[in-house]
Amino acid sequence: MCGIMGYIGTNGNATAVILDGLNKLEYRGYDSAGICTLQDDGLCIQKKKGRLADLTEAIGELPVSSIGIGHTRWATHGVPSDTNAHPHCDCSGRIAVVHNGIIENYAALRKDLILEGHDFVSETDTEVVVHLLERYYNGSLETAVRRMLADLQGSFALAIVCQDEPDKLVAVKKDSPLIIGLGEGENYVASDIPAILGRTNQVYIMEDNELAVVTADEVKITDLEGRPINKEVFTVTWDPVAAEKGGYEHFMLKEIHEQPEAVRRTLSGRIKDGWIDLSDLELEDLFQGINKIYIVACGTAFHAGMVGRLAIEKLARIPVETDIASEFRYRDIIWKPDQLMIVISQSGETADTLAALRYAKRNGVKVLAVTNVVGSSVAREADKVIYTHAGPEIAVASTKAYTTQLVIMYLLALYLAQERGTVPPDELKKLGRELAHMNQVLETVLEQEEKIKALAARHSSVQDTFFLGRGFDYAVAMEGALKLKEISYIHAEAYASGELKHGPLALICEGVPVLTVITQDYLVDKSMSNIKEVKARGAVVIAICKENLQEDCQECDEQVLIPNVDPLLAPVAAVVPLQIFAYYMAVLRGADVDKPRNLAKSVTVE
Ligand code: AGP
Repeated sequence: MCGIMGYIGTNGNATAVILDGLNKLEYRGYDSAGICTLQDDGLCIQKKKGRLADLTEAIGELPVSSIGIGHTRWATHGVPSDTNAHPHCDCSGRIAVVHNGIIENYAALRKDLILEGHDFVSETDTEVVVHLLERYYNGSLETAVRRMLADLQGSFALAIVCQDEPDKLVAVKKDSPLIIGLGEGENYVASDIPAILGRTNQVYIMEDNELAVVTADEVKITDLEGRPINKEVFTVTWDPVAAEKGGYEHFMLKEIHEQPEAVRRTLSGRIKDGWIDLSDLELEDLFQGINKIYIVACGTAFHAGMVGRLAIEKLARIPVETDIASEFRYRDIIWKPDQLMIVISQSGETADTLAALRYAKRNGVKVLAVTNVVGSSVAREADKVIYTHAGPEIAVASTKAYTTQLVIMYLLALYLAQERGTVPPDELKKLGRELAHMNQVLETVLEQEEKIKALAARHSSVQDTFFLGRGFDYAVAMEGALKLKEISYIHAEAYASGELKHGPLALICEGVPVLTVITQDYLVDKSMSNIKEVKARGAVVIAICKENLQEDCQECDEQVLIPNVDPLLAPVAAVVPLQIFAYYMAVLRGADVDKPRNLAKSVTVE
């Protein structure tokens, strides 16, 4: 949610560096953008509603400057507009701020500041920050920031410049991500690693209530009382090329195609002759005596958790509850010492997921994190972490993060079954060996891209769609529907097939596409009964089914076949045709695939 990029150096190209960083961060928010650079005659702020490209065009020739801050916005307070775009400025025009997060007590602060005579121009919560700085500024930006922080409630990552102190940026965070990139004679402030990829791989990952004073040659980090903090430098291992489109029209299509390789990386070194090896993670103590697991996540990651629940219950015989983090965090959970929480988050920064994690920890329950981003908040705060190694995922619609999360769920379920002896060794080894080859299965599924594209072309003008499945297939149907709605804006509802006749069947009418996932051999007859029900009401049925179930699914109008994998592992393969279908539906309808309306990649506010 909102991207921040700050730069300080000596070669005068601050504007170019900041715009480039914002370009790489645009997936965090893209309803408006702005930049503030320090020039000979003072702070120069340019802001524009719309995409970063609109701002870049408005800027035209890049001015010479060695220090600046920029922002790409996902609106929370106030509509997307030039005025509400960041940076925001104090009344004197000497201090400028960019912000990610929400200032919860902004209304009261704003009232007081207006009474004091401050002029507000925007509807944002952020603007109080800069007027507070104006109130406290007395020759030291660092001191003013410390005093201002005492007044703030809520979440924030802030980058601040002041005309009177042209040699420094000040940055501070609480509950919103922030990193400092370390260069040679230049340094960076950013909300996410992709912003600085290719410029430096050395970063400080800021913790809550740490304040950084950044000059071209030095980064000084202190706590809020001003005590120095010795931080470890973190080395980023992501390949800068991995965060580029690499010839694909959209990041989403690239990321769909990266799935075999991503899954191969997730599995690397984890399966030996069918046996799961997680020994380097030292998970024994974490799982010792555990009798219940909560899997908590949002969106796509939640859908991976649904599969995790079914797999762990089936294989390891441990009761599992999967919940949406925004609901879980406000439940009155009956915590017990023999429970464990698993949180799943691609970004590792999702506010609700982080809150659920903290809820468990406050109640003495240990947390295992499954995340893609090394050093993210979720990774740092959990007791243990398993990385998905999907590589940078830029498209807002998650694809390779999901399939790699599924693979981790299977690794955990098989590992627990192995440890607990709940599945005969031969069966376990067979599943382990099959999982080890999942990358090849995905290669085969991807060969059907053209067929799925043609399928999308036949249905691209529809208004409503339904997705059905049972058991594991229901979880995949949920993910397929989410993909379609978020990028093509087509109404997509996912239901457990058996639930259909309890209400939603009333919505089925002539010509409505029903996408059904059929990979669970033992449920195929039940699923087909539900298909007959919708067909009898005129629906057009598109089946994603396993090759061996092709005959059983003959009554479906269209079929997309996936290889014969064990039903337990089928979600990894079955979701891919749905991702491709959603992608081409969106393309055919002219939607902005990588930056769907109203959404952002990393949801760091509640
Ligand atoms: C996926 O396509 C979505 N854009 C969204 O549901 C996402 O999965 C969710 O916001 C959770 O994000 P996280 O994995 O970074 O926590």
